[in-house]
Amino acid sequence: MKKELDLSEFIKQLPKVELHLHIEGTFEPELMFKIAQKNKIKIKYKNVVDLKKAYNFSNLQEFLDVYYAGCKVLLNEEDFYDLTWEYLTKAKSQNIKHTEIMFDPQTHTQRGIKFDTVIKGIHQAMKDVEEELGISSKLIMSILRHLPEESAFETFKQSEPYKKWIDAIGLDSSEVGHPPSKFTNVFAHAKREGYLIVAHAGEEGPPEYVKEALNILKVDRIDHGNRSLENDKITTELVNRKMALTVCPLSNLKLKVVNNLKNHPLRSMLDKGIIATINSDDPAYFGGYLNENFIEIQKALNLTKDEIIRLVKNSINASFLDDIGKNKLLKLLQNHLDNY
Ligand code: ADE
Ligand code: ZN
Repeated sequence: MKKELDLSEFIKQLPKVELHLHIEGTFEPELMFKIAQKNKIKIKYKNVVDLKKAYNFSNLQEFLDVYYAGCKVLLNEEDFYDLTWEYLTKAKSQNIKHTEIMFDPQTHTQRGIKFDTVIKGIHQAMKDVEEELGISSKLIMSILRHLPEESAFETFKQSEPYKKWIDAIGLDSSEVGHPPSKFTNVFAHAKREGYLIVAHAGEEGPPEYVKEALNILKVDRIDHGNRSLENDKITTELVNRKMALTVCPLSNLKLKVVNNLKNHPLRSMLDKGIIATINSDDPAYFGGYLNENFIEIQKALNLTKDEIIRLVKNSINASFLDDIGKNKLLKLLQNHLDNY
């Protein structure tokens, strides 16, 4: 009798790519306490167990309040290095070959940390990991949408000396009430400067925000995009433009964007021909890294082996690697599948 394929094991062993990951969202409680102690900063929770009890969210804002509070212990270049190093070694253990990391400079500059401190720590860890562990990565500077557009322009100014380290500009934080059109000018500037563009849209916000991200910000990828499916015209637009969505199943479950993974719109996205990818968003807070996201959504939606392969290929093709980099990963994947 032919042995049935263990899809969880298949997922773990697949070479993968991650496209939607906030470095601040990889801050594991153990590291948070360690850095807090070193920097002599008090955390309002007694210990790791106590802190983890706060990871019970009813919506995006409840999560963001805890996430921004956790960032307050990050002070030095070394702290940003350690945070990034820890995520990338975890990525290595999950067979991630390439990852595109978002960071929120304003979360740190607003509390007096220099932009230089943040980016130097993150960049050095990315460079060291590429050399030592062979994982390539790109950096996305994300703009906090709850702050005014002037603050985004200020961040751009601070980022100028580091232009060669930044591949794309993103938009994140509290979505509802802060449409993409609030940032028309700063994203036009980013485009003129030659940056690629991504934006969170349609996570909690309406489909019109996805339309604005497409037509006003002129994005190269949409982060989340779940609510696009409420509007047929926008859905068709995504298909026609071959626009990739960076979908984050466990995030959607934890933030109550979906009430059950069985009702996750990924099934519909695939059926309609949307280029969907799987990602972990803020894995330290949402109960799983990339493998766990794949495994849980596979079980919930009964994804087939071919659908899983399609999702990984989508991630490679929607990455910001050049064609040589993409082809290298597509070949690596094919080689793996031929020998599996
Ligand atoms: N910042 C970190 N995670 C986020 C998410 N899921 N949505 C919006 N902003 C975020
Ligand atoms: Zn996100």
